[in-house]
Amino acid sequence: MIGAPVHRLDVVDSTQSVLARLAREGAPEGTVVTARHQTAGRGRRGHSWWDEPDSSLLLSILLRPTVAASQVAQLSLVCAVAVSDALTVETGIACRIRWPNDVLAGDRKLSGILPDAACTPDGRVEHVIVGIGINLAQRAFPGELADLATSVRLVTGRAPDRRRIESALLAAIDARYRQWLSSGFAALRAAWLERSGTIGTRVRLPEGGHGVAVDVDADGALLVDGGAGHVTRVLSGPVAAAS
Ligand code: BTN
Repeated sequence: MIGAPVHRLDVVDSTQSVLARLAREGAPEGTVVTARHQTAGRGRRGHSWWDEPDSSLLLSILLRPTVAASQVAQLSLVCAVAVSDALTVETGIACRIRWPNDVLAGDRKLSGILPDAACTPDGRVEHVIVGIGINLAQRAFPGELADLATSVRLVTGRAPDRRRIESALLAAIDARYRQWLSSGFAALRAAWLERSGTIGTRVRLPEGGHGVAVDVDADGALLVDGGAGHVTRVLSGPVAAAS
């Protein structure tokens, strides 16, 4: 289902915008848009997503789940598990997930995930476009990314085949998405926890204060123990590391 069809484009502003247009025109669930390069790649919280032509896997996937809008955030965690499934099998990298969905090698970001949901005024999900960027062949990163990002080539010494990573990723998303549709995040929770780089670390809470991340619940919310038995449930990030 995921990857039928795949639109392979050369240079676009953002695969998210291209697929949003196709979604409005009625494209079926599973439609994928990939590009060799983005001139205005988008990251979460209004950040941009930098790439160098032909160095990254850049794609967006159209999903049409019949779930409540409140459940859409779980797709971030579902896709992070799928990205780490695919990268671990194809590259041997032991990926870690920083809650909710950054996929890391060591403490550097290898992949970012951006879910854009379109909902009706009565709270129904019309569609979700999940954008995924994976750094594959970069030898270096510019500016502040130099200390934050990494690529498969930098970690393993080899640039992987982009099409191979793409098919492994689409197969992994297909499997994990079906699992989520049939049994909810609870069915993937153990897989997310196994790969977590956040549980057991001190984090700063979005609304101030800090604590130790102790678990994710069956809805994918992060549970942070602030001490004295006070546990905060965090539904959306970021939770920066605290010293
Ligand atoms: C993040 O901030 O971590 C999310 C980054 C998501 C980047 C991908 S690349 C393919 C797709 N198109 C975009 O413009 N953004 C996403």
